[in-house]
Amino acid sequence: MSRHLVSIRDLGGDGLERVLDRTDQFAEVMDREIKKVPSLRGRVVVNLFLEPSTRTSTSFEIAGKRLSADVVTVRGSSSSVEKGESLRDTILTLDTYAPDVIVIRHKAAGAAALAARVSRAAIVNAGDGTNEHPTQALLDLYTVRQIFERVSGLQVAFVGDVQHSRVARSSMAALQMLGADVMAVGPPTLLPVEGEDALGAEMSADIADIEDADLVYVLRMQHERQGPGGYVPSLREYAREYGINHSRLAPGQRVMHAGPVNRGVEISDALVDDPETLVLQQAANGQLVRMAVLYDLLAAKEPTAEELGTREAVAT
Ligand code: CP
Repeated sequence: MSRHLVSIRDLGGDGLERVLDRTDQFAEVMDREIKKVPSLRGRVVVNLFLEPSTRTSTSFEIAGKRLSADVVTVRGSSSSVEKGESLRDTILTLDTYAPDVIVIRHKAAGAAALAARVSRAAIVNAGDGTNEHPTQALLDLYTVRQIFERVSGLQVAFVGDVQHSRVARSSMAALQMLGADVMAVGPPTLLPVEGEDALGAEMSADIADIEDADLVYVLRMQHERQGPGGYVPSLREYAREYGINHSRLAPGQRVMHAGPVNRGVEISDALVDDPETLVLQQAANGQLVRMAVLYDLLAAKEPTAEELGTREAVAT
């Protein structure tokens, strides 16, 4: 078992199942009146977010607190990175405080791997540029399992800006590891230039190819990674040709999106607000999965009843 979670592949198939099963255990904690357990008491979690985030940063912070860890969140705008400090020096400095885990988000692909090389803490990749977002993949898998009660054999179409999507890279790999059949659909300019072999999945520029998918995973248009020229002639044209709305879906198809969404660009307003769309269920599961990830890295053994905490034990 890897000491870090930098890539979703660090977990392997068995590790994915282990974290998903542990997530079920923490879901039971959330049904209690007091949603806090002593599992990570005395442990220190540093959330180092050097790129914007709402879902990942908030859910990691709450996850650590629900496990009774001491949690410190450092944002790019309030860190010495703004004064020109390098990532390596930032990690080495944080390391002197002996944190148990550093959760890192950074705009550069490979940032989490660099942190894992220089830190004594366990590193969790909370999104590194266009590379990977492994805890998003775990919460996506957990959501898929809740909805379909299986992963193996499911057909999943990822639609949109695949080229710049760390969500696509991690979630496609995770779904494939558990036996799903995945494909990427989007305009040729937004499909990976490395081709199908690098992605390990079929690619298509024909939006009609989503018709057989059980699940349509809509990807955010990553404006911030595309540069001033953009990769599509216009957002209006993109929405017309590839935007997902009710009329594009076959009966029974479910829709996921990691958020944040660009309403009216990659997904219609009405579809975002449709209760059948899984965006908010994914977000809710993020907290549970991140509890399981922190627990898995810091206390890699089956939680005892005492560690999971009874309501009475936690209350005293
Ligand atoms: N899905 C996701 O990573 O969202 P945030 O950027 O808000 O964390």
